[in-house]
Formats: sequence, C-alpha cells, structure tokens
Amino acid sequence: MKEIIVEVEDLVKRYPPDIRAVDEVSFSIYGGQVFSLLGPNGAGKTTIVEILEGLRTPTAGRIRVLGVDTTRKYAAIRKRVGTLPQNFEPFDMLKPIEAVEYWARLFDMRTTRRVISELLDRVGLSERKNLMSKKLSGGEKRKLGIAMSLINEPELLFLDEPTTGLDPKARRDLWKLIEEIQGRGTTVFLTTHYLDEAEKLSDDVAIMHKGKIIARGTPSGLIAQHGKTTVVVLEGVGRDGLAEVTRRGLEATESNGDVLVPVRDPAEMRTVFAKLSALELKVKDMYTRRQTLEDVFLSLVGTKMDEGVLQE
Ligand SMILES: Nc1ncnc2c1ncn2[C@@H]1O[C@H](COP(=O)(O)OP(=O)(O)OP(=O)(O)O)[C@@H](O)[C@H]1O
Ligand SMILES: [Mg+2]
Repeated sequence: MKEIIVEVEDLVKRYPPDIRAVDEVSFSIYGGQVFSLLGPNGAGKTTIVEILEGLRTPTAGRIRVLGVDTTRKYAAIRKRVGTLPQNFEPFDMLKPIEAVEYWARLFDMRTTRRVISELLDRVGLSERKNLMSKKLSGGEKRKLGIAMSLINEPELLFLDEPTTGLDPKARRDLWKLIEEIQGRGTTVFLTTHYLDEAEKLSDDVAIMHKGKIIARGTPSGLIAQHGKTTVVVLEGVGRDGLAEVTRRGLEATESNGDVLVPVRDPAEMRTVFAKLSALELKVKDMYTRRQTLEDVFLSLVGTKMDEGVLQE
C-alpha cells in the first residue's frame, strides 16, 4: 500500500466579508508522487498550500501533513518539509552560497560550504554561487529558492508556481530539476497555471476553480475521462469562426484565436470534416492533434489559463 503524505478533508477557508477561497475541498496525496494543483488566479491554490504549511488557519476541515495536523503542531514536521513560496525573492545582498548557509542555520543544521556548494551545483547554479543574489535572473532566483528549500532534504516539497513568468528554457530547466527531486524520493506538491507543465510532470492532478476541486486524476486519466480523442484545430478564425462552427451544430471552443473542435471517435471525423469544409471561413491552417490537459480544462470551465491571466 502506498503511504498517504497529505490528507485534506472538507477544508474551508473564508476571508471576510464573504470570500470562500477554499470551499469544502478533500484530497489525499501519496508518497513519491508529483501532485499538481492547477487553477486560474484566485482559485484558492496558495491558500491551501499555506494552510498545509502551517501559515494560515482554516475556517473548517481537517488536514494532516506527514501524519501531523499542521494547524496545531507544524513545528513537529518543520524539518521534514521544504517550501518555495509564490513569487520567491532571495535576499538581494547575500550570495547564493551565503543565502543557503543562512537558511541551514534557521533549520539548526550543521552543514559545510562543500555540502552547500554541491547543492547549488545540483540545482544548476554552479557558476552563480558567489554573485550577489540581486544580480540573478528570475529563473536563477527560483533555483536558489529551491536549493534553500532542499537544505533539510525534505520528504515533502511545496513549490507554489515555481515557473510562472520564466522563459521556456528556464521552465524546462526547472522541470528537469523537479524530476530529479522526485527521482530521489521526495513527494512534490506543485501549483501551476501551466497545463502543459502539469501534464508533463504530474502523477496526480487536481483542477481547482473558485475554491472547489472540479476534476481529479492522472493527466492521461483526466484526458480519457473528460476529453475526446482528437481535436481539429482551425487556426486564426477567432470568435466569428467559433460562431460559424457552432451554428453548424458542432461542439467547439476558442483559444488564442484558434477554434478547437473535439472529435470523440474516428468514425465521427468524416461528419466533422464534411461540416467544416462547407464553412465559408478564411482558415490560416487546419490540422488535427491529440487532446491535452488544457483542452480538458477548457471544456470543464470554459476558460483559458495563460501566464496567470484568466480569459473568460
Ligand atoms: N489574506 C486574504 N484576505 C482576503 N482575501 C484573500 C486573502 N488571501 C487570498 N484571498 C482571496 O482568496 C482567493 C484565493 O486566493 P489564492 O491566493 O489562494 O489563489 P491562487 O489560486 O493561489 O491564485 P494565484 O494563481 O493568483 O496565485 C482570492 O479570491 C483572493 O483574493
Ligand atoms: Mg497563488
């Protein structure tokens, strides 16, 4: 039997006057997995993470992290958990090597410069160890934050939007690092806006919307359960295109100016193409592709998550 590392039951967090940031959420996370909490701005992700980290008090519900109720006894597990807060910024005037050393002291850990140096190598900061932290790039700052959070070799690591705002190369560097961390046996609790990231990295996904979990499963399970096998993409036809396509009786959504037509099984494809070819639309390009987690999200909540911006 796999071990449950995080348990959340009927969790509620209200903020005055009447914001239900977390609205009766329940889930469990198994050891050794990467769990992703996905959702647009304001969905309630950070609120849940910070309750689990012992930083906020829930209005109602029960939680256990590594077997401990962190609303009452977080100190008992402090050294077994690592955290990278959302929008992490390191101390400007400390070099990475000093920042990690300082962090180790906060954990009452005896460590050596050699160990810290190896940790900075591991996260890909070998060349930046002795540079003032204010000179680091956005991606390098996140790597430093992850190095700090790894100093106590945590069993569970919270990463709250580790890749938001980073360029594609920096995002991929962090993906590799997260895979490496999981490979060493650490359970990773990730929040992200990026559906491709969740699809690539996660063993388990919860999609949150307006304080509730609206879908739960493995990425492929979610696609199989909520998705269709294939999507026909009509590039650049926009909202007018969407109106045309739906007028022909086809189910469709719009994303970044493209219209996406999901197709349940190959037999349906012929009908779909017949209807699409009758349209009088200026199409830049038309192609088919497999469904992604993003398509599932779109079909579930009819919204698009992109760079943290929620477009209704
Ligand atoms: N301290 C607070 N006081 C009042 N409202 C709050 C507070 N913190 C968060 N909220 C509200 O609770 C809701 C959930 O916020 P939360 O930060 O958990 O969302 P999130 O999913 O992490 O969003 P993002 O992707 O933007 O980080 C939002 O409506 C937010 O405005
Ligand atoms: Mg957040």
